[in-house]
Amino acid sequence: MTISTILNKANKLHNLTKEEIYYLLCDSYDDNILFKEADRIRNFYLGNKVHLRGLIEFSNYCKNNCLYCGIRRSNKLISRYRIQPDMLISIAKNAAHVGYKTLVLQSGEDSFYSVEKLQYIIHELKKLNLAITLSIGEKSFEEYQAYKEAGADRYLLRIETTNKNLYHRLDPQMSWDNRKQCLINLQKLGYELGSGFMVGLPRQSLESIADDILFLKELNVDMAGIGPFIPHPQTPLKNVKNNPFRLSLKVIAILRLLLPDINIPATTAMEALHPKGRILALQCGANVIMPNVTNLEFCKSYQLYPGKPLPFDSLEIQYNKISKMLTTLGRTIATDFGFHQKF
Ligand code: 5AD
Repeated sequence: MTISTILNKANKLHNLTKEEIYYLLCDSYDDNILFKEADRIRNFYLGNKVHLRGLIEFSNYCKNNCLYCGIRRSNKLISRYRIQPDMLISIAKNAAHVGYKTLVLQSGEDSFYSVEKLQYIIHELKKLNLAITLSIGEKSFEEYQAYKEAGADRYLLRIETTNKNLYHRLDPQMSWDNRKQCLINLQKLGYELGSGFMVGLPRQSLESIADDILFLKELNVDMAGIGPFIPHPQTPLKNVKNNPFRLSLKVIAILRLLLPDINIPATTAMEALHPKGRILALQCGANVIMPNVTNLEFCKSYQLYPGKPLPFDSLEIQYNKISKMLTTLGRTIATDFGFHQKF
């Protein structure tokens, strides 16, 4: 096995075996070759347009207790907030005004937002001529259906890891099978589906990451969100020592080889670990950025991991800064909704 035979095969078939993926995840070659190839494929399929998705973190209440997550139920050290529907709609209006074409509504798993409340919010947001992505966790088929009918276009639900044992260790009260069923239900309902996983979880092997990559390939996701695991000081995993930044870049690049036309965000967690994290991800296969458009006062209490970049600028300044940054990379902000264009 050599890096060039693997990249040639990926270029022709957009498919690799677990062993080949494992080889790419190891350190036995110059990974800049992989990054260059992923960047070339991104450019070939998707060009230089970068899609911006404005992220609204509307509630940090969560009924779950995942060991890795800063807003886990047992974290009593954070102040909890809920952005009320009308305020959420006004944030959305501001973001739409600045130029956002997609908004992502994200929260912990919070039952305060009933189906009726969310339907109302989605309905109002659709009047702004936006694509709407939901990222609110595991719900029943009927709830997903209700949101779809209200106008939601996309859904993000990371599988977090495909290693069931690891998954259940990370939250003993959750069910991996149920999470997978949620992903299948979302696809059945016609959502554009985003999934993904964390890289560098304690006791997560490279083999397991190869399985995670193949899982997304098999599921044929429309979007793949990959982020390094970052230990949060107010969680049981606070003492984990690792820096999975480079490995996360490799995972992004490999996903680009296997799913050449999907949307891949340069996630904020990348920026939390490296000052140029998002730029590097954009140069290794990513084509999406998700700027935070939540008011700073709330955003501060939505720390899933430490070091999250906070939006100190106004929405306009933030948008312009991103635009300038992209220009230096030879890229520009896309002006369409950025749905998955299948080749
Ligand atoms: N480090 C990195 N990513 C995290 N997430 C939650 N906690 C952490 C952490 N400590 C990710 C999960 C979740 C997404 C919204 O944030 O993958 O799905």
